[in-house]
Amino acid sequence: MKVTISRKAHFNAAHRLYRKDWSDEQNDAIFGKCNNANFHGHNYELIVGVTGEIDQETGYVMDIKILADLIKEEIEDQFDHKNLNLDVPEFLDLNPTAENIVVVIWNKLRKKINKNHDLEVVLYETPRNFVTYKGE
Ligand code: NI
Repeated sequence: MKVTISRKAHFNAAHRLYRKDWSDEQNDAIFGKCNNANFHGHNYELIVGVTGEIDQETGYVMDIKILADLIKEEIEDQFDHKNLNLDVPEFLDLNPTAENIVVVIWNKLRKKINKNHDLEVVLYETPRNFVTYKGE
């Protein structure tokens, strides 16, 4: 009997979408306003889901307080009020699209979560635009 427990979190961050190896014209054509040289910000919302068997002793899949602390340390403390392009090492050479951000988040959390559990991360860049990664 598998159950998914989920924790919501959020961070505010700035970014700019562009490739260093492309011309200004090509970056503008593909990324438009997102290529603004002075960056722009988002209120990112995050839903982290952990799926596994219920532990018969505790009744938990995992202690959600531990999951909350993990998200705070690994994601919020690293990304909140940061410029993703300039301040976060993972994006020095990786375009910080929502797709790439959700994969970076998943990889950071995956290392810290029990191997027997499945992990899914949903990242909202705006209230209507969101991406999902399950490690597949
Ligand atoms: Ni953006």
